[in-house]
Order: sequence, then structure tokens, then C-alpha cells
Amino acid sequence: MNSRLEEITKKIVGNIHEVIVEYQINDTELMQALNFLTEVGERGEYQLLSDVLGISVLVDEITHGQEETAKTAHNVEGPLYRPNAPKMGSKAKICSDGDKGDRLILTGQVLSAENNLPLAHALVDIWQADEKGDYENQDENQADYNLRGLIETDEEGRFTIETVIPGPYEIAKAGPIGGFLEAIGRHDWRPGHIHFKVSHESCSPLTTMLFVPNDPWIDSDAIGAVRDSLIMKFEKIDAPEELTKYNVDEPFFLCKYDFILNTIENEKIEAKDEALQIK
Ligand SMILES: [Fe+2]
Repeated sequence: MNSRLEEITKKIVGNIHEVIVEYQINDTELMQALNFLTEVGERGEYQLLSDVLGISVLVDEITHGQEETAKTAHNVEGPLYRPNAPKMGSKAKICSDGDKGDRLILTGQVLSAENNLPLAHALVDIWQADEKGDYENQDENQADYNLRGLIETDEEGRFTIETVIPGPYEIAKAGPIGGFLEAIGRHDWRPGHIHFKVSHESCSPLTTMLFVPNDPWIDSDAIGAVRDSLIMKFEKIDAPEELTKYNVDEPFFLCKYDFILNTIENEKIEAKDEALQIK
């Protein structure tokens, strides 16, 4: 007997019954709903359903806390992470010469929230879409692991990553979730963003994403993941001496961003994870 599961089930079922009575749902509508859920399962889109209903982000916030602490805000991982990205030093280039779009250099430090000291040899696992909004594993024109990398910070916790500014993309074009969003008058665009998993042996790992400022969808992300503290600030760099300093041959946008890792494990959450397991 799992009393937490029992309580949650009662609450959910009670709320569903209330909606059925209020809207006088008939058997045709029930069949439509069940067929929709069947198709969502067949197409492997339950994660996406959770995303577009804002459930993924809400659970992520409950699990990892809000932005009131010093640490960098956590965010959802999304479905496109691939482990074993190419290992790179603290000065890394993750784009290829064929990548179009504006160049971006992202530089900063990985720091500990406890004392604000830099974390040497921290790992910054980065993945992103290209200018068109495609990840390499969705696009046969991109090389394997393009725009992905596992970067190790230097002795001062620093990293400098050369890439391109990722474009926005649609998350549900062809499947049942796309049809559902259209039916309720919502779009399926996500603003351009870059994903990160930042880790160090002395801290809790951080999964998050940074957003492209001024993106047309920055105020209406289809999964509601944008947080002010995670929107990058771009500075246009075109002075010849600056280009030499960063070892690039064309003007680029510079973003300085420090990742601050938490040192406290959240034991409360582990307890909850266990409580929800169905035996
Ligand atoms: Fe993404």
C-alpha cells in the first residue's frame, strides 16, 4: 500500500470527474480523448505532452528549487541530449566551418555557490541546435556530434566556447501534440537556446539552458522554460584587436556567463522519488 500514490490518485480522479460534470463530457468526446492518449503513447510523445502542459518545468522547479538562491537556475534537460560528446579543453570550438549564422563566443567561470571560488576541471557538457533550429541528430547535413562538446574548465574554472547562435525550433510539427496545440490555439515554437550539464566532483550537477535574447518566441516558449536569469546578454565585437584576442576572423557576439553550482544535495527529493514508486 502506497498512501502517497493513493492520495494523489484520489485528487487527480476527483478533479477529472469535476471537469466531466461541469462540461457534460459525452462518450464521443471520451473516445476522442482516449484515442489521443493512445496515439501520444504510440508516437512516444508523453514527454512532449508533459512539456507543453508546463508539467515538466513545474516539476523541475519543485525538484531543484527556484531562483532565490545564489546558484544558477536549473532547467529541464529536454529529449535531445546525447552522452559521450567529444572531450575538449577549456578553449573549445563546437561549431564547424559549415555552420551558418552569427558567431557566438560564450565565456565565463564555473563557481561554487558555497564560497564563490572557481572550480578547476569542472565539466561543461553543451548541446544546441544550429541556426535553422536543427540538432545534428535530426539533420543529415551536420556531422556526428556537431554543436556538442564536453569542455573541461582550466585551473581558474574558466571556459571559452566558440559556436553559432542557435535558431528557434518547433517541437511538435507532425504528431498528435501538434494537432492538439493547434486545436487549442497555441504555437509549438521554442526560442533559441543552448543546453548545459555542468558538473564538478565537489558539487551537485546542474542541468540548465541559456536563451537567446530578442528571440521572437522568448516571451511565449511552448514549454514555458524561460527564466530572466537564464537569458544571455550579447555584446557585438568587431574591433580587429578583439578578434585577434579571441582568435576569430569575423565579427561575433560575446556572452559572459558564470555557472554557479550548489553544494547541497537535496535529500528531500530523493525521499519523494522513492515514495512515488509503484510496487
Ligand atoms: Fe533544445
